[in-house]
Amino acid sequence: MKHTRLVLIAVLTMMFSWSVRADEGMWLPSLISQRIADMQEKGFKLEAEDIYSINQASLKDAVVLFGRGCTGELISPEGLLLTNHHCGYAQIQKHSSVEHDYLKDGFWAMNRSEELPNPGLSVSFLERMEDVTDKVLEGYEPGMTEDQRVWIVRENSNALISEATKEGKGLRATVEALYYGNQYFLFVYRQYEDVRLVGAPPSSIGKFGGDTDNWMWPRHTGDFSMFRIYADKDNNPAPYSKDNVPYKPKKYFHISTGGVREGDFTFIYGFPGRTQEYVHSEAVRYIEETGDPQKIHLRTLRLNIMNKYQAESQKVRIQYSSKNANVANAWKKWQGEVKGIRKMNTVRNKQDFESAFKRWASGGEFDGVVEKIEDIYKRLEPYSYAVDYLNETVTATELPKFATEIAGCYMIGLDNLVGFDQEKAAGLIDAFYKDYHLPIDKEVFIAMMNEYEKNMPEDFKPQYYKDKYAEFGSIEAWAEHIYSNSIFTDEQKVRELDAEDMQIVLGDPATEFLSAFGLWYSTEILPVTRKLNQELQLAYRDYMRGQMVYCRTQRIPKDFYPDANLTLRVAYGHVKGYSPADGTYYLPSSTITGIMEKDNPEVFDYNIPQRLRDIYAEKDYGRWTDENGNIPVCFIATNHTTGGNSGSPVINADGNLIGVNFDRVWEGTMSDIVFDPDICRNISLDIRYVLFIIDKVADADHLLEEMTLVD
Ligand code: ARG
Ligand code: GLU
Repeated sequence: MKHTRLVLIAVLTMMFSWSVRADEGMWLPSLISQRIADMQEKGFKLEAEDIYSINQASLKDAVVLFGRGCTGELISPEGLLLTNHHCGYAQIQKHSSVEHDYLKDGFWAMNRSEELPNPGLSVSFLERMEDVTDKVLEGYEPGMTEDQRVWIVRENSNALISEATKEGKGLRATVEALYYGNQYFLFVYRQYEDVRLVGAPPSSIGKFGGDTDNWMWPRHTGDFSMFRIYADKDNNPAPYSKDNVPYKPKKYFHISTGGVREGDFTFIYGFPGRTQEYVHSEAVRYIEETGDPQKIHLRTLRLNIMNKYQAESQKVRIQYSSKNANVANAWKKWQGEVKGIRKMNTVRNKQDFESAFKRWASGGEFDGVVEKIEDIYKRLEPYSYAVDYLNETVTATELPKFATEIAGCYMIGLDNLVGFDQEKAAGLIDAFYKDYHLPIDKEVFIAMMNEYEKNMPEDFKPQYYKDKYAEFGSIEAWAEHIYSNSIFTDEQKVRELDAEDMQIVLGDPATEFLSAFGLWYSTEILPVTRKLNQELQLAYRDYMRGQMVYCRTQRIPKDFYPDANLTLRVAYGHVKGYSPADGTYYLPSSTITGIMEKDNPEVFDYNIPQRLRDIYAEKDYGRWTDENGNIPVCFIATNHTTGGNSGSPVINADGNLIGVNFDRVWEGTMSDIVFDPDICRNISLDIRYVLFIIDKVADADHLLEEMTLVD
């Protein structure tokens, strides 16, 4: 009797945990068998081995880390790859010129010979992953110092990495700490370096809605681009060569044209970058009260300046469009994050959890851990503030950064003779002046440094700064001095620099500005933050383990998953609308009707290609319509994703591709810290819109023929 009751309680807690923690989590593929029952319960029809297997081809073999921070997926037996437009943006831009503006007009290779190589771009397949905790900690004894532990972990990891990459071409491995170093995993990747651009829609489709719609729902962005992986004749990684042939994947996604409906199971396979779900309330309080609001405020000032100049000139608008987008992206995300943290009462909830934890921990292994974290945060906070401020003010200025980059082109040889890397400098010079508008930079300098003067505590200001401020009497006068005397305001003079001119470059007021702050940072700030962060890491390792033990022994339903760290993860959920505010409900999918409603030739972000207007007028939709005869565009679902998941395959219950992930809704961006199943939604491109664009707008049917479409 007693026994059955225990079982019953266990089952109930499990069910309870499913209902309260619905859809939260970024799971390790190799451990997915622990989640598969839940996935199947929610509608998934395949097995754990279909997701991740080292014995047979599985879905993981069709997913890649694309470049440095995106995901991509294979969609044909001939190495065709799909990712986001914003993930391929740099490559599309690099191939663009005034004569061939692929950003503006789109690009489609009509045959293999027209596909464009991209030196520097690589994609990585995960070959396998393995729990190596014991091996990484071999030789470590309790009581050793943290420095000793760091050393042991590094040595053991390096040995594992060289062992793992010994055999096979193009192998690359990393050892990653999970749960703050309570667990270590080895990840072995095969990295391909010949990745060619196959196609991209015009930005008016691929970036439709621009920053106006970024992080927003309802959304109508056709955020995709296509590449092809090439290999040597044995299908192995090889540097670019015209003799390379299309890579034959172990697995590629079949594409479902059956569409999505509210409630459908979805699963995302990709490389989420960074989350911090288990942090102490103090960390969240800092983000909510200080970190995010300060950064938002500074970026608002910066964006206002950019916007003002961009509105005045077509040339400046183009020059600053990418810079503006970068600044605006995080700016908008933080606003949603603060709002979400507040709405969820996160600080308060965490404080309650911590109080209960402290009571439970008293006298045991985890006694004092939370208090230790609190103490470290108290010491760390002024430094975190200073670093945040530095990043958003001093290093947000353009000319000083460029000046120090040019300074970095000087090399002093063993013979003490100075060399100058002309080629590197020429590249930097081309890139910088093409998109530089001095009045913006100077005004940003003045605005940012005035905020700095006002808000940075005196003992966190470098002596250099105080001297300059005293010398010039105002930020305006100091800016005037820098921006009228720096050699870097004169492109011609900068182009003439050579090895002889090192002293001129180092003594330049723009160079001096950033390097003085840099020196102060590395001598006064970094040593302290490094030490405190090491202490914090150590305390978190205990606290993380403590949270797990506490929840397990106290029967608190909580499913633990490791924070994102750009390793391959599975997230699953279902297609679902949400209510962003009282009295409002958003449906889970959008259609071409919404594109036409937004269409406006006068508004840059909403000016679609004429071709799309014509297709819409004639309803020339081909076979890509939804059940109402409309073209589907985007949909939202409850999958737990973050930055890095851009380009991730969105998969249905049968394991087929139904979409490409590219964003989250603004009101749910606190999911990097706390997940709310009612509000947090990832935004995906409906795969049928991708197929429609390829077919009707690009006339690139040959690509459709490579794919395997299923209903
Ligand atoms: N918000 C998306 C992400 O975080 C898309 C960013 C690119 N698009 C843009 N309009 N800035 O990466
Ligand atoms: N756009 C993001 C990316 O590039 C994905 C959005 C998110 O943060 O979830 O990874």
